[in-house]
Amino acid sequence: MKNQNRLLWEKGDFTEIAALMRKSGEEFVASLEIKSPLRVLDLGCGDGTTAIPLARAGAEVLGIDIAENLVAAGNRRAAHEGLLRLKFQQGDACDLRDVEDGYFDLTISMFGAMFAPKPFDVAKEMVRVTKPRGRIVMGNWIPNDPTSFVSQLLRISASFTPPPPEGFISPMTWGVADNVAEYFSRTGVPREKISMIKDVYEFIALDKNPENLIESLIRFYGPTMSAFEAAEKNGNEEELRRQLIELAYAQNKNTAVGVSIPATFLRVTIDL
Ligand SMILES: C[S@@+](CC[C@H](N)C(=O)[O-])C[C@H]1O[C@@H](n2cnc3c(N)ncnc32)[C@H](O)[C@@H]1O
Repeated sequence: MKNQNRLLWEKGDFTEIAALMRKSGEEFVASLEIKSPLRVLDLGCGDGTTAIPLARAGAEVLGIDIAENLVAAGNRRAAHEGLLRLKFQQGDACDLRDVEDGYFDLTISMFGAMFAPKPFDVAKEMVRVTKPRGRIVMGNWIPNDPTSFVSQLLRISASFTPPPPEGFISPMTWGVADNVAEYFSRTGVPREKISMIKDVYEFIALDKNPENLIESLIRFYGPTMSAFEAAEKNGNEEELRRQLIELAYAQNKNTAVGVSIPATFLRVTIDL
């Protein structure tokens, strides 16, 4: 039986949403100032929004993601660009059993590992596969942040969804500094090695207005699709759609044509 975490992300087609995040992915990678040769793990990599610019910068990159369809899409993109030192493979951030200890100079996870269900195991695995003196960088959405489109999207979606099973740890805990420090402290990483700042990603589409953006999320983005299905069961789907469109209009900074919606996140850097 497939796990629910995997089913959620194989649902729909996240590549349609990832297409709106390419510019920020490239800018984020540029901000890392990669100096090749470097071995990088991109965990919860999707179809390569950060893995591809990392490989273009000369790094040897392994992208690991739980969703088979996104791994296949990533490998197609890598082949298309002729990036021979970039490989995508299926795996679970909670248990990176195929990866040897200390293999990577840099482990990065942009809004990926935060969605794995066992945060303490994820932190342990990220530290285990990264070299001593290596670096871990994460981007995590911040709960209830009014300046984060994604955080608000997930908050509204959750309000239309039945409560999660007992013992479920919300992915949004990764957007709180104290939780991040706690997850990594169990692996022996002292607080002073962890720095956290707020940063911004932008969702950009020149061919969409806020309504089209929300329709894409309802059609292609697993968490919104699930919320919409739950709302449909109660006849609340139009109210969910209305709230999401209102959110997208409120956050859209592009007053000319298209959407350009910023989303604040917690940028975590650990120098091991
Ligand atoms: C919001 S997407 C971000 C994808 C990519 N990092 C990007 O910036 O476009 C979340 C990703 O995390 C992956 N993911 C969720 N749970 C995971 C797990 N347990 N192990 C590995 N990947 C996981 C999903 O399949 C999805 O590709």
